[in-house]
Amino acid sequence: ELAQIGVTGLAVMGRNLARNFARHGYTVAVHNRSFAKTESLVADHGDDGTFLPSESMADFVASIERPRKVVVMVKAGGPTDAVIDELIPLLEEGDIVIDAGNAHFPDTRRREERLREHGLHFVGSGVSGGEEGALNGPSIMPGGSAESYVTLGPILEDISAKVDGVPCCTYVGPDGAGHFVKMVHNGIEYADMQLIAEAYDLLKQGLGASAAEIGQIFAEWNTGDLESFLIEITADVLQHVDAETGSAFVDVILDRAEQKGTGRWTVQNGLDLGVPITGIAEATFARALSGSVPQRTAAAGVLRAEAGAWDVTDRDAFVEDVRLALYASKVVAYSQGFDQIAAASEEFGWDIDRGAMARIWRGGCIIRARFLNRITEAYERDADLPLLLADPYFTESVGNGVPAWRRIVSLAALNGVPTPAFSSSLAYYDGVRADRLPAALVQAQRDFFGAHTYQRVDKPGVFHTEWSLDRTETAQ
Ligand code: 6PG
Repeated sequence: ELAQIGVTGLAVMGRNLARNFARHGYTVAVHNRSFAKTESLVADHGDDGTFLPSESMADFVASIERPRKVVVMVKAGGPTDAVIDELIPLLEEGDIVIDAGNAHFPDTRRREERLREHGLHFVGSGVSGGEEGALNGPSIMPGGSAESYVTLGPILEDISAKVDGVPCCTYVGPDGAGHFVKMVHNGIEYADMQLIAEAYDLLKQGLGASAAEIGQIFAEWNTGDLESFLIEITADVLQHVDAETGSAFVDVILDRAEQKGTGRWTVQNGLDLGVPITGIAEATFARALSGSVPQRTAAAGVLRAEAGAWDVTDRDAFVEDVRLALYASKVVAYSQGFDQIAAASEEFGWDIDRGAMARIWRGGCIIRARFLNRITEAYERDADLPLLLADPYFTESVGNGVPAWRRIVSLAALNGVPTPAFSSSLAYYDGVRADRLPAALVQAQRDFFGAHTYQRVDKPGVFHTEWSLDRTETAQ
C-alpha cells in the first residue's frame, strides 16, 4: 500500500497536519529527522487512521504514490532548504513539494523556480490556525502552479476548516502568492491584536475596570459585528486568574510583546510596494516599543505626561464608543492589507482574487471573523474595488462610528494613553478621504532644495521653479 500524501517534520504543526490527513481517510507517509518522533506519532495516534512511518527520507519518498505530495513542515529558512536538498534527488518529474511553514515569500519564489528546473512542483502554502487548526481544520493558502492544485487542492480542501460547508482553502496564485497572502494575514493579525489591546487599555484606564470586567465586555462584543476568534480568546484570557498569585492573569505577564517576524516582513514589503499599511506598521512598532527596555527605563518618570484625568460619566456610552472605534480601525487595517495584496498581485503577476482570500479566512485561521463575509461580498460587488473602505457596506458601517472614533482618539491623546493603531487608522481615514493634502507643500519643498520638480493642478506637465534665482517657472 502506498500513501496518498507524506509529511516530513513532525513537530507539533506537522504532527497535527499528518493526523488531520489520516482522520480524513488518507494513508499518510510520515518522517522526521529523529525517528523517535515518528514512532511516537504512530504509537500515540495510530487510531486516527493509517500512517506509514519511515526512518529514512528515501524510504519515506518511496512509500508515497505518484505524483507524490510531500508536505514539508520544518522551520523556515535553512532547515527548509536542507530538507528540499535532500528531497530533490529522490523525487520524480511531476511530484509536488508543499512548504506549509511560515516561509518568507521571496524564498518561496526562489525555491519554486529551483524545483521547476527539476520538473517538480513547489507549493508554498500558508497554513493558519495554530496547533488546534492544523488538527481540526486550518485555513490553507496554497500557491505554486495551477497544475499542482488539480491533484493537491481536493486533499487540502478536504482537511481545511469549513464555513457553511465551504472549504477555507483555495488556490491563491503562482510561486510566492500563497506565502505572501499568509504574510499579510499575519500582518492583519498583528493589527487586530494591537487594536484589541488598545481597546482593553482604554477600558482599563477610562473605567478603572478590572480585567475580568473588561473580559465580560469583550464577551458581549463577541455577539455582534466584532465576533471573531481574537475577540473570543481575549474575553477568555482577561477572565483567567493566575493560579499562583490569584491576580488576573494578564496583570502578571511582562508587558513586552515579541514576534517571530511575519509582521516585520509585512511592513518591509509595504514599504517596498509603497502601500500605506499604517495599522500593521503601528502594531509591529508597538511590539518593538514594548520591548525597548533601555528607552522605557530612561523615559519612565522622566518624560512629563501633562495629561488630563479620565472622567467617564456615562459608562455604557464610553464602552460603545470604544467598540465603534475598534471596529472602524479594524476595517482600516483590513482595507490596507487588501491594498497590499492587490499591489503585490500586480507587481508579481499573481492575479489574486481578494474576495476569495476573505472567504478562506472566515474559518480556521487566527483572524477568522464574522465580518469577513462582508469583505467577500464587497469584492463580489466589485472585483476591482480600489479601496475596501469605499465599498457601500463599509462606508456606512465605518461612517456611523466616526464621531465615536474621534472622541476616543481625542480622549486617549488628552489623557495620555498610547493608541498608535487607533490614532493612525483614523489619520489614514482622514488622509485617504481628504480633498486636498499638504503633500503639495512637500512637493514645493522638494523642488526648492533639490530641484525635484512638481506637477500643477491647472495644467499638465512637470515643472521646476528657479528658487535661488528669479523664481521663474520652467516646464521640464
Ligand atoms: C497563524 C499564526 C501563526 C503564528 C504566528 C505568530 O496564522 O496560525 O499567525 O502563524 O502563531 O507566526 O506570530 P508572532 O510570533 O510573530 O507573533
